[in-house]
Amino acid sequence: MWSSTFLLLTAATYTAAAGYCSVNTLATNTTWMQFTKEPVPLEYGFEDKFKSIYCCVKGYRSIQWFKDGVAYPWSAGVSSFILYPEAANQTLYSQRAARADSGNYTCRMSNETHSETHTVRLEIQEKPSDEPKTMFISKDQWVEEGMDLRLYCEALIGRSYLADARSDLRWMKVWPNGTEGDLLITQTEIKTKRDDVEDIIGSYLDFGRVAARDYGTYACVVHSNDLVSRSYVTVHYKYGGTSMLDWSGDSDVPWKALVLGTVAGALFIASLLMLHKRCTPRLLLALRQARARTSTAAHRARVLEKEFDVLVCWTPVDAELVRGALLPTLTLKYKYRVHATQLSTQPDHWYTEIMSETARCRSVLVVMSPAQYTPQHLLVAFRQLAALPQPPVVVLLQDLPNLKREAKEVGERACSLLRRSRLVAWRHVHDRAFWTQLRLHLPLPPRAQQVKSETTDNKNSRSGSLTALV
Ligand SMILES: *[C@@H]1O[C@H](CO)[C@@H](O)[C@H](O)[C@H]1NC(C)=O
Ligand SMILES: *[C@@H]1O[C@H](CO)[C@@H](O)[C@H](O)[C@H]1NC(C)=O
Ligand SMILES: *[C@@H]1O[C@H](CO)[C@@H](O)[C@H](O)[C@H]1NC(C)=O
Ligand SMILES: *[C@@H]1O[C@H](CO)[C@@H](O)[C@H](O)[C@H]1NC(C)=O
Ligand SMILES: *[C@@H]1O[C@H](CO)[C@@H](O)[C@H](O)[C@H]1NC(C)=O
Repeated sequence: MWSSTFLLLTAATYTAAAGYCSVNTLATNTTWMQFTKEPVPLEYGFEDKFKSIYCCVKGYRSIQWFKDGVAYPWSAGVSSFILYPEAANQTLYSQRAARADSGNYTCRMSNETHSETHTVRLEIQEKPSDEPKTMFISKDQWVEEGMDLRLYCEALIGRSYLADARSDLRWMKVWPNGTEGDLLITQTEIKTKRDDVEDIIGSYLDFGRVAARDYGTYACVVHSNDLVSRSYVTVHYKYGGTSMLDWSGDSDVPWKALVLGTVAGALFIASLLMLHKRCTPRLLLALRQARARTSTAAHRARVLEKEFDVLVCWTPVDAELVRGALLPTLTLKYKYRVHATQLSTQPDHWYTEIMSETARCRSVLVVMSPAQYTPQHLLVAFRQLAALPQPPVVVLLQDLPNLKREAKEVGERACSLLRRSRLVAWRHVHDRAFWTQLRLHLPLPPRAQQVKSETTDNKNSRSGSLTALV
């Protein structure tokens, strides 16, 4: 009787220990050595209770474990944890954990050529407490549109003993206005629990393929009785970098034809196209280009007076998008002469940072992620931008929250602040409407011949002065 109970117990233990690494694994095809799920760096257990820790990997040849630098197997004084070989050495467990088992457990997995380590910090506690303890939250992510993505959050909570208190963990979307809301219907949550410690709960936030609406900040909200803890992850846009080749065939051709036509013809086509709202910005742009072609020499000289057409400013979170997509498109496709500068994340000194660069540039373009700021910070940012002598063009990577309430608190009108900037919502690097709108707000770049003739002029004058010297 006793022995069969013992057998049942050990059997249950073994399935508990073996199961963890085989569920909720990452969907990958590749065979090289890698983690098969998010590696959790912090573990909690309770005195005299069952506890297991894991290193879920695949493609390895061997795994070795160390506790605070001491290699497995351990003497009783070091740790009561033992390997569970049926799980291919990915799991360690103890039937009755002790306070002395606390420490840093490191697994080192190796294949023929490489080895990698992962450390799990284990804390064995005397008894549960109410305070939620986050054990894992995914780091901020930079992902291309269309890539697969999931986030994970896991925490130790206190068991709920108050009738109306809740203990749970869930993902929420943080809207640009700072409020938390439900996830989108395309985003699914998969809740997890552990077989070793039932107070450890987790949740995957599965995006499937990332779409434009998925970018932004998410909060992992943990309730433990009446205590709440929040951790945040931001999903940033990353540029795929495959479009440089398409650009050689310039898409401006129809406009060249248009410009060649007479003014009357243009007006006729204009009235036709006006019916189509989307075409209006393109038409305005084309008309502006046509006008530029007939500009006076004085005007052309004024354009070339400044070294650059656009000063592009951004903060570190958007560096990838700006360097990968915006700058190459502006310079290579649309032939702007661009001067670029990175601003500090905090907007308090943007005015000074931008002013120090602006003398050589005809216009200012600021790329901004409103999601990284509180409404108060956003007001500071727009106040700094509004102080610039020339209204900047602001490319917004997410929706702008409603700033009216915050503005009222400091006695300002948000709309008058915003009116000093020209706002353009980022859509996609290939979205022609976005680029048309942006180019309408920026000054036209000088035409290629203009720049060339200027440099030849320079050369002539220089050689001229050289001749004079000789
Ligand atoms: C796995 O590989 C197949 C064929 O090589 C591919 O069609 C499929 O999309 C891959 N799946 C994942 C999850 O990468
Ligand atoms: C060993 O794993 C690394 C990745 O961790 C991989 O790049 C390498 O190709 C693997 N070597 C062999 C022989 O599989
Ligand atoms: C599992 O661990 C044991 C004891 O440390 C070791 O002898 C064995 O080689 C390991 N096996 C693998 C596949 O890592
Ligand atoms: C485990 O690692 C952490 C961080 O690296 C360190 O602060 C802590 O002292 C270590 N614990 C032990 C028992 O060595
Ligand atoms: C914040 O934005 C979301 C989505 O845009 C909206 O549903 C919500 O009502 C807004 N909350 C406030 C307080 O403005």
